[in-house]
Amino acid sequence: MGNCLGFPAADPNRSKAPSTSGKASPYANGGTFSASSSSASQSRFSGAASEDTCVDGEILPTPNLKVFSFGDLKNATGSFRSGTVLGVGGFGTVYKGFVEEKTLAPTKFGSGMIVAIKKLNPESMQGFQEWQSEVNFLGRLCHPNLVKLLGYCWEDQELLLVYEFMQKGSLENHLFGRGSSIEPLSWDTRLKIAIDAARGLAFLHGSDVKVIYRDFKASNILLDGNYNAKISDFGIAKLGPSGADSHVTTRIMGTQGYAAPEYVATGHLYVKSDVYGFGVVLLELLTGLRTLDMKRPSGKQNLVDWARPLLPHKSKLNLLMDAHLEGQYSSKAASLATQLTLRCLESDPRKRPSMKEVLEVLERMVAIEGKSKALLKSSRYSKSRHRPDHHHHGNEQERGDGHGHGHRNGNQSTSRANNIEQENNPI
Ligand SMILES: Nc1ncnc2c1ncn2[C@@H]1O[C@H](COP(=O)(O)OP(=O)(O)OP(=O)(O)O)[C@@H](O)[C@H]1O
Ligand SMILES: [Mg+2]
Repeated sequence: MGNCLGFPAADPNRSKAPSTSGKASPYANGGTFSASSSSASQSRFSGAASEDTCVDGEILPTPNLKVFSFGDLKNATGSFRSGTVLGVGGFGTVYKGFVEEKTLAPTKFGSGMIVAIKKLNPESMQGFQEWQSEVNFLGRLCHPNLVKLLGYCWEDQELLLVYEFMQKGSLENHLFGRGSSIEPLSWDTRLKIAIDAARGLAFLHGSDVKVIYRDFKASNILLDGNYNAKISDFGIAKLGPSGADSHVTTRIMGTQGYAAPEYVATGHLYVKSDVYGFGVVLLELLTGLRTLDMKRPSGKQNLVDWARPLLPHKSKLNLLMDAHLEGQYSSKAASLATQLTLRCLESDPRKRPSMKEVLEVLERMVAIEGKSKALLKSSRYSKSRHRPDHHHHGNEQERGDGHGHGHRNGNQSTSRANNIEQENNPI
């Protein structure tokens, strides 16, 4: 698991704080940090971090987190009432709660700033190590495209995490969620989300000590009220290898359909394993289809297997692209997107682009779309979809099953039911 930042293997049932004698990692910047149970320690929180302190990303020497008592969070959520549930994942249930904006002091339910509170389900397999990892990684990482962890609670058996509230929920819900309230995301918004998420990953990979995120998927990309995307869930993140270019892990973790093939097959984990996951999400954004969906016809159940032969061909764009995007994208930008996806999904990790390169291509696509739109506006043919310099694609009739409005009834599993967690003998 992603626990290598100075945490001892502690037992959450102990009431005293764990020692800080765990092996220090370079990430710890010479120091170690250890979460403390709220009954045993003072909060290290020194005020809500300002947004502009970490525009370019920052690794804090120690987590700047508020320690909450269980009672605080019980009050903040109105006793974890069912109406406040935002979602349920493998770790437990996520509730909406309220705190005082400046100090994060708990307030009466319904007043103050909204936060998201994740409460460990005692039966969760993910449990304590993931909770530690989240505190250690996310508590010290500060970047506009990483969800902010504000604090935690560790009291007896209770383990909770308090995050900034992401008003629009997960990308997964927007791409595949049901219900009339969910509008299909526009092409421009999808590009923006891809860029935001790529910035988050590029920051993790580009920092002095590389962080391999390991669980890149649509449900871990959260959206704020303006559709700014942020990566969440560092429960299985791992420090990048120092010296060698891969880790060998004996326990394969991640999510089926998103995990890189070399990692699943051999346990070898590279920074580029995250790039594969990014490619899968990019493909989901382009097609509007889930990576795995057993309700689709055979041959199309595994999105990557189905799409890979189509991706190199410009003439297949209309088969690939989500019908909801019809008329919104230029063929030039869409072709760049499919080529980029193909490179991210290369079986050989060395052939995959870096996240920095991915980001550059995505930004080029946005520039192309900007120019195309400006051209369209100024052109007297602006109403035509058939201008030679701006082919728009998308033809619902030509599409196979699973596209268009029908796909929103797809398999809605959001928990780790389909997560990979198997013992593996590394080669
Ligand atoms: N900070 C947040 N703000 C708003 N909603 C959130 C926040 N964090 C989580 N959620 C909601 O709670 C749901 C469950 O999140 P959680 O991370 O526990 O599980 P998951 O990502 O769906 O699955 P997994 O356990 O495999 O990561 C999310 O899909 C999202 O809708
Ligand atoms: Mg998650």
